[in-house]
Amino acid sequence: MSLIVLTTTGARTGRKHRVSLGALHIDGQLVVVASAMGSPKHPAWYHNIRHNPLVTVETGTEEYEAMAAIAPDRDRLFAEVVEREPGFAEYQARTTRVLPVLVLHRLDRVRRMGDWIVEVHDWLRAELRELRGRLGSGDPLRFEERCLGFCAALTRHHTGEDTAIFPMLAKQFPALAPALTKLGEEHVVVARLQEEIRRLVDEESDPARLRTEFDRLASALDTHFAYEENTIVKALNALAPAPG
Ligand SMILES: [Fe+2]
Ligand SMILES: [Fe+2]
Repeated sequence: MSLIVLTTTGARTGRKHRVSLGALHIDGQLVVVASAMGSPKHPAWYHNIRHNPLVTVETGTEEYEAMAAIAPDRDRLFAEVVEREPGFAEYQARTTRVLPVLVLHRLDRVRRMGDWIVEVHDWLRAELRELRGRLGSGDPLRFEERCLGFCAALTRHHTGEDTAIFPMLAKQFPALAPALTKLGEEHVVVARLQEEIRRLVDEESDPARLRTEFDRLASALDTHFAYEENTIVKALNALAPAPG
């Protein structure tokens, strides 16, 4: 076990809160336990992290920003902790609380999952711009094909977020939960606009209406992507490398 200084942001005060903690390196991850030596209440730094997961870690030799995530495989990690530091089993025995286990993911890495999401958004933004530019001009069949391709890619992207990325983030970063709910609701709005566009493209009957719906979709997506990037990029960068 090594000693670190963890700086969190006070959930109520907004002030910096420094605390010395024992941390363990397990499977290449830096792990801490909110034990408070087995007291009945969670330590203040754990409450702070539930409100704001962005922390600073000082190890004695270096200092870096990190995202403090609630470990998804808590029981396995806690068993590892206890194996190395049996004192934690005693702390656990003193309280009815399930001692929370946290992983401190450092942020100073290159090309991570969050950056990759931004690249996907940029591709979708460019494709939508292109489609809007081509509305009503050129070969309608090719337009239809490209438009359906765009809609399929967008649906796939949002389905991945709804079923995998957002639940994973909400579990590990409770502070993000309200924003993730809002993002999920926006996906529903976007899906409805896509449905309408698909129908209009199919029917080829009302180009003016199609343009209006395209403008709506573009503006909904602009807002959505911007909000999403503000909300989740850091957390995703902390958690996972970009897919190959
Ligand atoms: Fe999204
Ligand atoms: Fe997205």
